[in-house]
This record gives sequence, structure tokens and C-alpha cells, in this order.
Amino acid sequence: MPTTVLPLGTLSDTHGRVARDLRVSLTDRCNLRCSYCMPAEGLPWLPTPDVLTDEEVARLIGVAVGLLGVRKLRFTGGEPLLRHGLADIIAASAGLRTDEGTAPELSLTTNGVGLDKHVHRLVESGLDRVNISLDSLDRQRYAALARRDRLPDVLRGLAAAEAVGLRPIKVNTVVMRGVNEADVVPLAAFCLDRGYGLRFIEHMPLGPEHTWDRSTMVPSAEILAALRTRFVLTPAEQRGSAPAEEWLVAASDDHPAGRIGVIASVTAPFCAACDRTRLTADGQLRTCLFSRTETDLRTPLRDGASDTELARLWLGAHRGKAAGHGIDRPGFRQPARTMSSIGG
Ligand code: 5AD
Ligand code: SF4
Repeated sequence: MPTTVLPLGTLSDTHGRVARDLRVSLTDRCNLRCSYCMPAEGLPWLPTPDVLTDEEVARLIGVAVGLLGVRKLRFTGGEPLLRHGLADIIAASAGLRTDEGTAPELSLTTNGVGLDKHVHRLVESGLDRVNISLDSLDRQRYAALARRDRLPDVLRGLAAAEAVGLRPIKVNTVVMRGVNEADVVPLAAFCLDRGYGLRFIEHMPLGPEHTWDRSTMVPSAEILAALRTRFVLTPAEQRGSAPAEEWLVAASDDHPAGRIGVIASVTAPFCAACDRTRLTADGQLRTCLFSRTETDLRTPLRDGASDTELARLWLGAHRGKAAGHGIDRPGFRQPARTMSSIGG
């Protein structure tokens, strides 16, 4: 029986929030090149010695869960399936116990390419849930958007996740004007038919610099209007710290009932309820997707800091977590890292 360790503190900030959800980016590399995330030629990848080893990642996760009250872990990238040690890191995390005495909830955000080959082992290692990014069901549009013709691979990955019993399966879709608005209704029908959760995400300024502007972002109101051309939506219960505003979809002759979420990160920020903390693949702690500063945990870790010392650095960084991303403020500048190296 693992022993329950009392937390050293919780990751609280001066705005009354407590972070319980750790997003861990396991690599900045990806096998796709989604235009909202990366330039066609890719990015200058992190040099291998800078990337935390599997043991280092597991150690920091252990600090977060064992000493800092973190209860949920989400593995992201880049593309986390490209990380060779993924199953081992999941297994190590599954052996931890939270301040509530249970195993942390373990989920994976992936583009789905190759998921069919890995999913059995990941579930055996303790993976609970998966979020799959899918921005179009049209093969040509998918290939144009992801700059790789991999839609059939993603669909195989989705089917494999379903077959192995990973539920609820969630699909994430970033909507961009003039690119994939026509996919909103077909993606909703596809997910309702299969019982997958679907969340549409407003395009955020986290891709290559100068590629975002408000006019290319499709606001949640427009996404909902598109959905209402085909579905009857009623608001679901309050969302708590979940970023998605959820809608119940009434059953009809062509589809079962279900739910659809919209993540209005730009037009209706949910920063006031944020419960996230983030670790990059090179061991930098970020309190927000949009932070312009990071706290280096890798250097002290490699210099021999104790778990308690690492936990104190984490606590200190979180106390100063900014109230919000400030996309709407005149001085807003997007972070130097793109989503692929922060972790979604
Ligand atoms: N805006 C919104 N969502 C993004 N993602 C990646 N870049 C952006 C962006 N600029 C999404 C991916 C994936 C999740 C990790 O984040 O599509 O679903
Ligand atoms: Fe890869 Fe995800 Fe970025 Fe697409 S959004 S290029 S799948 S990291």
C-alpha cells in the first residue's frame, strides 16, 4: 500500500485559486504542422540534453502530487506519443497517491496519429482518458490544415481508443475562419453518433507570431450559431473550473442526444476559475499558457535540490500567478513559446 504523504501546501495564488491540475509537456516535437501551432518548416526543437529525462519528469510529477496537492495529470506535447518513455511515465504517475488518497487522474492530449499502436500499453500503464485533436473530417482540408495527410491515421487512433474502452473519449477542434468552419456541423454529428465528447476551441494567439488576429478567430457565439442550424442546444450545468461551456444536444431522428462544449478562451476567458499549473519538456514551470516568465525547475533538480526545495520553488511561483491572460489589454504580447512547446 502506498503511504499518503501530507502536502507541503497547495498551489494557491493571490487571486484565491488553487491549482490541482498539472499539464506536463513531454516533448516539443510533433509529426503534424497545424498552421495555428507551427510554421510549415517546424520549429528549432529543444536540444535533447535540455529535455527532462523520464526519471526527472517522474520526480517532478511526484513532487506535485505528493507535496503540492495536484490531483489530475494531463500529458501533452508537442505530440506526447513521440515520447519513448510515455508508458513508463504514466505507470510511475499511476503509482502515486494524491492528498485524497487516490491515484491521480491521468489523461493524454494527442493528435491521434499512431494512437492505435500505443493505446493498449498506455491503458495497461494506467491511462484513464484521452483527448484527441481533430479539426476536420474532410481529408483534403485536414491535410491542408495539419500540413500532413494523416486523417485516416487519426480515425484509426480514435477507433482504437474506443475499442480499448477509454471513455469518455473527447475530441478537440480549433475553429478558424475560412479554414474549417464547414467542419463544425459534420464534426458534431460524427461525435454525437459515437458518443464522443466534443469541444470547439477558439483560436488563441499561441502559434507562430503574427499568425493570429481577431478577424481569423471564430468566436464561440458564431460556433454556437452554426451548431444551432442543425441541433437543438440547451445550456448544461455550471462548468466549475472546466474551461468548456457545455451544451446539451437534444436527440433527433438522425442523431442521439449528447453534449458539446465550446472553449471561449478569448471572448469569455475562464481565468478566474483556472486550476492549472504547467511543466514544459525542458523543466520550466509555467503558471499560465500566456506567461511571459517561467520558473526553472531543471537546474535546481540537476543540482541536487530536495523534493521539499523543489516544492517550495513551485509554491513561490504560483503565489504570483497572474489574474488572467490579458489578450484584451492593449499591451498584450503573446508568449515566446508556441503551444507545441508549452503543452495544451
Ligand atoms: N489556439 C487554440 N488551440 C490550440 N491548440 C494548439 N494551438 C492552439 C491555438 N493557437 C490546441 C490543439 C490541441 C490542444 C492541445 O491545443 O488543437 O487540441
Ligand atoms: Fe502538433 Fe498539436 Fe501543434 Fe498540431 S497543434 S502541430 S498536433 S502540437
